[in-house]
Amino acid sequence: MDNSQAILQADTSSTIYTQENGLLVPSAVTSNSQMQETMGSEADFDSRMMRRCLELARRGLGRTSPNPMVGAVVVKDGEIVGEGFHPRAGEPHAEVFALRAAGVGAASPEENRARGATVYVSLEPCNHYGRTPPCSEGLIAAGVAKVVVGMVDPNPLVAGGGIARLRAAGIEVVVGVETEACQQLNEAFVHRILHKKPLGILKYAMTLDGKIATTSGHSAWVTNPAARSEVHQLRAACDAIIVGGNTVRQDNPYLTSHQAGAHNPLRVVMSRQLNLPENARLWQTEEAPTLVLTEIGANPDFQKFLLKRGVEVVELPALTPEQAMAHLYERGFCSALWECGGKLAASAIAQGAVQKVLAFIAPKIIGGSHAPTPVGDLGFTNMTEALPLERVRWRVIGSDCLVEGYLSQKFGQ
Ligand SMILES: NC(=O)c1ccc[n+]([C@@H]2O[C@H](COP(=O)([O-])OP(=O)(O)OC[C@H]3O[C@@H](n4cnc5c(N)ncnc54)[C@H](OP(=O)(O)O)[C@@H]3O)[C@@H](O)[C@H]2O)c1
Ligand SMILES: [Zn+2]
Repeated sequence: MDNSQAILQADTSSTIYTQENGLLVPSAVTSNSQMQETMGSEADFDSRMMRRCLELARRGLGRTSPNPMVGAVVVKDGEIVGEGFHPRAGEPHAEVFALRAAGVGAASPEENRARGATVYVSLEPCNHYGRTPPCSEGLIAAGVAKVVVGMVDPNPLVAGGGIARLRAAGIEVVVGVETEACQQLNEAFVHRILHKKPLGILKYAMTLDGKIATTSGHSAWVTNPAARSEVHQLRAACDAIIVGGNTVRQDNPYLTSHQAGAHNPLRVVMSRQLNLPENARLWQTEEAPTLVLTEIGANPDFQKFLLKRGVEVVELPALTPEQAMAHLYERGFCSALWECGGKLAASAIAQGAVQKVLAFIAPKIIGGSHAPTPVGDLGFTNMTEALPLERVRWRVIGSDCLVEGYLSQKFGQ
């Protein structure tokens, strides 16, 4: 039976189960019209299943580091018989949940609907014993016939190992379906693996005349509510948000995701002197944790105060963006969002702690010769020294504009 016939059959199929926090719950199954849309080629079917994998993978958003977000789907005779995703580090991988949902490990072997099935997975199955046994062996033991892989493992030392193991066991493996989307979803994880540091994302909001606050330092708000809501979503996808002491003193931000059930990243303050206000919102740690990075011996009394409030304090020998990122890497983080002002942003760029830039631009003018700008002094005097962005995209959010791009390879890699 080819996939287009089979997917029609899938329309009348029974409920599909997927896992939520480790429990199997009914998942939203593809609708009749969606099914009919996909009556195309096998390649269309594969793309569609891979996009479903990515949808599942996103359920782990912000919670999987140092691991990637991965989704998996088991298809038997054109029907989805199991789905899964990797919920967080230390828990089983997506393939394990999907195979379980397809009946692997059930009391009677007849319940194993993965035998002879095709498994779609957004990242190459692992082939090593880590916190969990290798998924390659799990797929082989389940008796699957074919595995469709979105992207190969980014780690050059293990890349292709899982695929080779599956092929050696006689399983057909197809690689490279929706690869770009798979890589985009896990760009921070890929960066962590390849560069041994978290992906640094600099986000700022400025007026059309390039100011991030007024001359007095007031900045609430530069952008419209829709753009700010986009920032909240961005936070939910990151492992840490970093600001400097001035931003805490001037803005007193919350830096949370402001969404029920969404992940809140670790809020990180970099401050040398620790002359910070006692009533800062960041010291309220019930909703989200806060880490203060400082220098050795800085303001011991304030350190004690912070510890009492449940704020973690780490003293670094040198308080630099580079050291901060090294610390966050050690903690297993894949991404860090710089939401600081221009002084710290310039320092972060100069030290290669920023790879991606998200600039929200509000079409209004505030003026002020001394009003702060998004990036402070980089020591450049010639326009030819300007750092170009690559892969630039822009879109309109309400009345504001978001420009995003990546600093070129020569800088910060
Ligand atoms: N519109 C926006 O997107 C946006 C976002 C953030 C901030 N802002 C505005 O930006 C202004 C603050 O700008 P800012 O540049 O002073 O930002 P900042 O984010 O407070 O960064 C500067 C502070 O970072 C700390 N720091 C620690 N290590 C550092 C290092 N190696 N290099 C530089 N700084 C280091 C210092 O804190 P200590 O002095 O405590 O030692 C320093 O004063 C405020 O007016 C705020 O409203 C706007
Ligand atoms: Zn695995």
